[in-house]
Amino acid sequence: MKKLIGAFAAGAMLLALAGCAPAATGSGDAAAAGPKAESDLVVGFAQVGAESGWRTANTKDIQDSFKEAGIQLKFSDAQQKQENQIKAIRSYIQQKVDVIAFSPVVETGWDAVLNEAKDAGIPVVLTDRAVDSSDDSLYVTFLGSDFVLEGQKAGEWVLEEYKDQTEPVKIIQLEGTTGAAPAIDRAEGFAEAIKSDPKFEVVASQTGDFTRAGGKQVTEALLKANPGVNLIYAHNDDMGLGAIEAIEAAGLVPGKDIKIVTVDAVKDGMQALADGKINFIVECSPLLGKQLIEVVKQINNGETPEKRIVTEETTFTQEQAIEALPTRQY
Ligand code: AHR
Repeated sequence: MKKLIGAFAAGAMLLALAGCAPAATGSGDAAAAGPKAESDLVVGFAQVGAESGWRTANTKDIQDSFKEAGIQLKFSDAQQKQENQIKAIRSYIQQKVDVIAFSPVVETGWDAVLNEAKDAGIPVVLTDRAVDSSDDSLYVTFLGSDFVLEGQKAGEWVLEEYKDQTEPVKIIQLEGTTGAAPAIDRAEGFAEAIKSDPKFEVVASQTGDFTRAGGKQVTEALLKANPGVNLIYAHNDDMGLGAIEAIEAAGLVPGKDIKIVTVDAVKDGMQALADGKINFIVECSPLLGKQLIEVVKQINNGETPEKRIVTEETTFTQEQAIEALPTRQY
């Protein structure tokens, strides 16, 4: 009997010890060995590119936040190409960094490389944009905006702005990068919001790749092909700023002859809103650096971050932009 009790106690002790082990965050040996000194941590960040004012602000915020936290950051710019991001992630795996963070240029096609990171025991954090994968064990958390909600907010403003108009409202949509989460979701949220009233007609929808040049070029062509457009919905400020140039070149007044609603609220966009050339902006915050640092620290401590961390955001009218501009960080 004594032997039996002894065996039971030893087994229970082993189970208790196993329960006390650090949570398996995917950092393999490192997690098992306990937290590293923060100054010894190395994070690899695979950025999308430098396509917009938003992206420049996002990169600066991430780099500044890591410097301030004293955590080493390896940074790469994929120039909007998925193959470059995959290469960068593979190189971080080879370098055995502690955490990989990245903002996926498009939603699909990540499972293979993320499985390689998983097999190497390196936790992955999605910042800003989501991946479309059925396996959510491939990343620790997704930290960023609710893009569908952003599109809905833009659509709700349009509903209100034209509530007294009975004539059809002709809309051009300037889409972000084809296949990117913010392009897909902002189109979805907007369509959802305006579908209740058939007078809203999206007469053309084309990608401007989130760039100012793209927004200008696409608007020039679409204005020629679609006379009598009332409104441009641009998935980001930069494309809206490009559209302003195209509208002015066509001899029309942006903000009056053709109204513009955009997403982001970076300084140049806010200035155009204050000047009355853009009519409404839905905010998308690029300041994700501090939250990323928090997640990296949690992983290092063997804690499990929330699977989805949503950024808090607002919207801006012209008056609100005038008020916010003097202290706008980006
Ligand atoms: O993923 C966020 C989006 O990417 C921003 O809204 C856009 O400006 C950027 O290029």
